[in-house]
Amino acid sequence: MIYKDLIEEIDAYMERDPAAHSRLMVFVSYPGLHATIWHRLAHWLWGNRLLILARLVGYFGRWITGIEIHPAAIIGRRFVIDHGMGVVIGETAEIGDDVTLYHGVTLGGIAPSVDSKMQKQVKRHPTLFEGAIIGSGAQVLGPITVGRNARVGANAVVVKDVPDGVTVVGIPAKPAGAASASPEGFTAYGTPTMDTPAREERAIAGLLDEVSALRRRVEELEKEQAQRVGSGPTEVSDDADVETDAPRS
Ligand SMILES: CC(C)(COP(=O)(O)OP(=O)(O)OC[C@H]1O[C@@H](n2cnc3c(N)ncnc32)[C@H](O)[C@@H]1OP(=O)(O)O)[C@@H](O)C(=O)NCCC(=O)NCCS
Repeated sequence: MIYKDLIEEIDAYMERDPAAHSRLMVFVSYPGLHATIWHRLAHWLWGNRLLILARLVGYFGRWITGIEIHPAAIIGRRFVIDHGMGVVIGETAEIGDDVTLYHGVTLGGIAPSVDSKMQKQVKRHPTLFEGAIIGSGAQVLGPITVGRNARVGANAVVVKDVPDGVTVVGIPAKPAGAASASPEGFTAYGTPTMDTPAREERAIAGLLDEVSALRRRVEELEKEQAQRVGSGPTEVSDDADVETDAPRS
């Protein structure tokens, strides 16, 4: 890791951890940063087919930090693991830029439904897109995606894709009701600050987005319908009217 990358990584901790008071403090005492440094080395060795050496470096990093990252995992820039202990990141996991994990997070695999000999080549672990925040103890399992700026609540178990900007909580994880629209940008612990719009405002913004998406879909369907009508007579079934008018029992 070159000096510029290291400074960028340290500054990410300064921005995202309210308890980080100086670059020096982060550099000497943040296990998440140390685990990332060991991982960058292990990943380079892995890429150069020095597989056992890569695993040994990864193992050493885990011993020092309590954070296990497979050397093959792909990790973007300004990655932050806060606290760190108990984090596990699997072989085929992919992590975009500006992602934040808290302690106890697993980016884990599930057995793919293919021949067992093929399993090693198949993607088994999640992909996290830019700006995702994964709360402490969350288990994100399988080759699913967590979208840009999405948030995963503490202790959630995520087994399905999380769309961009959505917050999920619980087991199995589902959108968090009125709070499911994530605030823009990073907020510590994934929770809104005084500067971020209130929960109701975020909920309204989410609903407006949904209404716009539905409106676009209706327009598309109307266009398709108009094209069909234009290209020839369509038969309208009488049954439809009968169905609508008939009293329901
Ligand atoms: C998920 C999270 C980001 C939501 O934050 P928020 O936008 O402030 O949302 P709210 O606190 O208003 O909660 C919204 C709803 O989700 C529920 N909820 C929040 N976090 C939850 C969690 N981890 N598990 C289950 N439900 C949760 C709330 O009870 C609330 O439910 P309600 O609408 O029925 O009342 C946040 O609660 C969280 O878990 N952040 C991770 C924190 C963490 O890991 N800290 C460790 C740092 S050391």
